Amino acid sequence: TGAFTFDPGYTSTASCESKITFIDGDEGMLLHRGYPIDELADNGDFLEVCYLLLYGELPTKAEKADFDYRVTNHTMVHEQMNRFFTGFRRDAHPMAVMCGVVGAMSAFYHDSTDITDPRQRMIASLRMIAKMPTIAAMAYKYHIGQPFVYPKNDLDYASNFLRMCFSVPCEAYEVNTVLARAMDKIFILHADHEQNASTSTVRLAGSSGANPFACIAAGIACLWGPAHGGANEAALNMLAEIGTVDRIPEFIDRAKDKNDPFRLMGFGHRVYKNYDPRAKIMQKTCHEVLKEVGNEDDELLNVALELEKIALTDEYFIEKKLYPNVDFYSGITLKALGFPQEMFTVLFAVARTVGWIAQWKEMIEDPNQRIGRPRQLYTGAEKREFVPIDRRG
Ligand code: CMC
Repeated sequence: TGAFTFDPGYTSTASCESKITFIDGDEGMLLHRGYPIDELADNGDFLEVCYLLLYGELPTKAEKADFDYRVTNHTMVHEQMNRFFTGFRRDAHPMAVMCGVVGAMSAFYHDSTDITDPRQRMIASLRMIAKMPTIAAMAYKYHIGQPFVYPKNDLDYASNFLRMCFSVPCEAYEVNTVLARAMDKIFILHADHEQNASTSTVRLAGSSGANPFACIAAGIACLWGPAHGGANEAALNMLAEIGTVDRIPEFIDRAKDKNDPFRLMGFGHRVYKNYDPRAKIMQKTCHEVLKEVGNEDDELLNVALELEKIALTDEYFIEKKLYPNVDFYSGITLKALGFPQEMFTVLFAVARTVGWIAQWKEMIEDPNQRIGRPRQLYTGAEKREFVPIDRRG
């Protein structure tokens, strides 16, 4: 009993006050600290956006240089962490590995877990932003049976990440600047998205005062699901299953059929009832990457473009305001960058780490912060007497 508001899926409950990210779902607008996502993606780099999310303002040149330096100097992970990877089967999903290894960070960095100390909070934040690409690249290398590649700190964030993923000790490796810029943009597009499921998970975990590294591991676990970060992988699987443009109508019909659980992956959003502004930038980035790798006539891209065109003129999708979201084009782009599907959500986790941390910090620093504790409407059995086992059934 109790007079609680029943709001399954939290469609109308604000769980916190926040100054970080603003979404106008009807307009299709996304702002970080007031700056539109397209301006950030076109003119900024990922670490600049990280600074903005964490500190609230764009950095000056000197602040940016200092921030870059501090992140770059935390890219190595404790050598003993290698053993966590080798404890997993190689066919484990890299997100399973990420949940475990990032959770394990809480056992390594004891000097940055006093959440009452602003300095330690900032060190924990920088450590996570800096080490996440290293851990993600290690997950990838382990998965494909190649040796780990150590970070190279004179490279920018995205280039360093690509090198850790794609270079091998026996061959020279030159970072492709067009692809590195695309990777950086993909990171920017996924950096934060206010109180989505994984961010809310991080906040809820953190509201008890838990270890910050463990809170981020909780966010990774939540991100894994196909309705959230796993949608990019699911979207690419779907495009591959459709295969050719002539099969699109069949899948559109299935998506509309209420007796069929199939949904168009990469379509629809809880908040956007208009085109997801990130999807537009992602579509452009997708074209740039495909051009750079010489695959402009990619069949999956053709299927995606045609599917989008058909869905956007279909009564069902118009009425329900279902538009492509960021994940619709990200799968094709990541595939063209050379990543296998199992890595897509891992890349999302790398980028979203800053959002999780910025939101966690904001929560810890909120003087009104209390432990998150939703209530429920109890619908189970009424009070009854215990029945001994020999009198049951
Ligand atoms: N294909 C077909 N129908 C859909 C779709 C879709 N992709 N998405 C929503 N609908 C229908 C749904 O069946 C429902 O119809 P009705 O009102 O007749 O029952 C209506 O639209 C509203 O859907 P909902 O599930 O109540 O909406 P939600 O806000 O709970 O779910 C969503 C949002 C993103 C989970 C959902 O749109 C979906 O499952 N999309 C596909 C998965 C996806 O692309 N997820 C990535 C989200 S963006 C990145 C991220 O957050 O990680």
